[in-house]
Amino acid sequence: MSSIIRSMARPVAAFAFFPVLAVMAQSQTAPPPAVPSGSAFVGSNACKTCHADVWQNFYKNPHYKSVASGMEPPERTGCESCHGPGQAHVAASGGKTTIPRAFSLMQPKQAIEACLTCHENNFDKANIRRSEHTQNGIACTSCHSIHHPASTKQLLAKKESDLCYGCHAGIRAQFEMPSRHRVNEGFMQCSDCHNPHGSFAATWGMGQRSHMVEQALGNQSPCLKCHVDKRGPFVYEHPSVAVEGCQICHSPHGSTNAKLLARPVVLTLCLQCHNAGGSGTRNLGVDLQTSRHNLLDPKYQKCTTCHVRLHGSNADQYFLR
Ligand code: HEC
Ligand code: HEC
Ligand code: HEC
Ligand code: HEC
Ligand code: HEC
Ligand code: HEC
Ligand code: HEC
Ligand code: HEC
Ligand code: HEC
Ligand code: HEC
Repeated sequence: MSSIIRSMARPVAAFAFFPVLAVMAQSQTAPPPAVPSGSAFVGSNACKTCHADVWQNFYKNPHYKSVASGMEPPERTGCESCHGPGQAHVAASGGKTTIPRAFSLMQPKQAIEACLTCHENNFDKANIRRSEHTQNGIACTSCHSIHHPASTKQLLAKKESDLCYGCHAGIRAQFEMPSRHRVNEGFMQCSDCHNPHGSFAATWGMGQRSHMVEQALGNQSPCLKCHVDKRGPFVYEHPSVAVEGCQICHSPHGSTNAKLLARPVVLTLCLQCHNAGGSGTRNLGVDLQTSRHNLLDPKYQKCTTCHVRLHGSNADQYFLR
């Protein structure tokens, strides 16, 4: 514990919690931090007088539990569980450098470690240290606000979608397309599909990048949490659904094409694999141009008029019913 507190006490220039990789690198070589001498734990009551504004709302905070229960050791109780022992700070009547963990002086990495002293175990389904966010210097405090949250549940600094759009402005336009998941309307959230704390590389079709896509039970695509009818197992599986994943055919956020389809014409979706040069396990291109099943005939170009169960079928190997 004390080594963590010490590492939090580095007096470095103030900066906002935002990707500043240069500053992060610099911190690796900063001189060893000094704990304000003689500092000891004094308890949260000692903070009330000068930080009445923070204290007044603190009872609503989930972190107040440690104060209410009185069961935790001093280094895990109340204000000092995050800010470190306060005696020197109180004796000096304040000051930023007298409190071991003044977040306004901390690097993202230090802030992350301060929170992870207790929250490490929350992220069994995530990969917080290796997430795209952590790797890019996004600290817990970029998204969570301990003292000024939009809501005391989850302590998010803003409403979730506003929070994400604050840094991912380009994604908003995708959720305004004609076919879309209704995130902007408030029926869904980014975190229904993503885990902002990171995720492990999936086995279905995401390649090397996880895109922090949350996994449903059993390492499945998060899409199946809601679209349970697509889950299977089916007697006749369409390998693309489970292997390449839904996003080979659908744009998950939004699309100008109906049904969130990634391409305007269904035929071109299918021919990604069902042609001579495709990535399918079998060369199906030849079969598709017989007189019996001829793609040059417009009747055959709307594949899904006949192959209606292309997510998988229990009745027909060609997904015709
Ligand atoms: C769960 C960790 C945590 C606990 C517990 C905590 N703080 Fe903080 N505090 C922070 C963080 C993180 C910041 C940086 C600002 C932010 O992100 O909200 C901060 C900022 C502050 C600030 C700077 C002004 C401000 O409002 O941002 C003061 C003063 C402060 N805390 C006092 C306290 C006091 C007093 C208590 C106990 C009543 C307390 N803190 C409990 C994490 C904590
Ligand atoms: C005698 C008054 C006083 C008491 C008691 C006091 N503080 Fe402070 N504290 C201050 C003042 C003044 C500042 C502002 C320092 C500045 O901005 O330079 C401050 C700033 C802080 C900050 C903000 C550092 C930052 O990131 O900018 C934290 C955190 C903090 N106090 C925590 C505590 C905690 C925890 C306690 C109880 C253990 C406590 N304070 C008790 C006067 C006090
Ligand atoms: C001393 C241990 C400790 C530290 C340090 C700590 N937390 Fe917590 N945190 C807790 C506990 C305990 C809860 C309450 C969990 C519960 O309600 O069961 C909690 C709750 C939360 C919640 C709300 C969870 C929910 O389900 O609504 C968030 C968000 C959170 N902490 C973020 C942070 C952040 C960000 C930091 C660093 C600035 C931090 N915590 C530091 C112990 C800690
Ligand atoms: C990019 C934004 C972002 C960052 C960075 C972030 N969080 Fe969260 N966090 C969220 C959102 C959004 C939720 C609510 C949705 C969810 O549960 O995933 C959440 C939920 C939580 C919860 C409650 C639910 C749970 O999973 O237990 C805790 C605790 C928490 N975060 C702690 C942290 C800590 C600690 C860090 C830093 C190590 C952190 N968060 C970093 C956005 C973020
Ligand atoms: C403080 C800024 C910030 C906030 C807030 C933020 N992000 Fe990020 N996010 C980033 C940065 C920086 C990256 C890494 C660079 C990149 O890939 O864009 C990133 C990466 C991602 C990625 C991976 C992108 C990829 O190409 O693999 C996803 C997914 C993501 N964020 C989702 C979210 C969600 C969901 C939220 C809201 C809960 C959120 N972000 C909030 C800054 C932020
Ligand atoms: C219906 C599920 C779903 C929802 C809801 C969702 N995403 Fe995604 N998102 C995905 C999937 C799946 C991918 C990976 C796509 C791929 O493989 O190309 C992705 C990719 C991303 C990426 C990286 C690729 C890119 O387009 O830049 C970012 C950033 C991102 N999402 C942010 C967000 C944000 C912000 C929100 C909320 C406003 C959100 N997502 C809501 C499923 C979703
Ligand atoms: C949280 C639940 C949820 C998750 C997770 C989810 N969806 Fe959906 N999806 C819906 C709802 C609800 C609709 C109905 C459309 C609406 O909201 O108007 C829908 C509609 C669709 C549609 C049809 C759109 C149309 O225009 O008819 C497709 C295709 C789709 N989702 C694919 C996906 C894919 C692919 C994923 C994973 C990346 C996914 N969904 C994840 C809830 C979800
Ligand atoms: C091989 C391409 C392909 C893959 C892979 C695929 N879909 Fe589809 N999906 C389609 C096509 C094409 C349609 C439109 C069918 C129509 O218009 O009759 C569709 C329609 C849908 C619809 C709306 C109509 C309905 O059947 O409910 C949903 C929801 C959907 N897909 C979800 C998913 C999910 C979830 C996954 C991943 C588990 C997935 N899709 C994988 C091609 C695909
Ligand atoms: C990502 C690649 C991929 C995409 C895209 C794709 N498929 Fe497939 N499809 C396959 C693979 C692989 C098989 C299994 C072939 C085998 O069993 O030899 C298959 C099998 C089939 C079969 C059954 C063939 C048989 O011999 O049992 C039909 C019918 C079919 N696909 C139709 C479609 C249609 C219609 C589309 C477009 C909506 C489509 N596929 C898109 C990869 C794909
Ligand atoms: C008019 C209905 C119809 C349309 C439209 C149609 N198919 Fe078929 N397809 C069939 C039938 C029926 C079979 C089964 C052939 C058989 O019994 O040998 C079949 C078989 C297949 C097979 C299995 C491979 C084979 O030939 O043995 C694939 C792959 C396939 N279709 C893909 C497609 C694709 C891709 C499209 C759109 C470009 C498409 N189909 C459009 C009726 C159709």
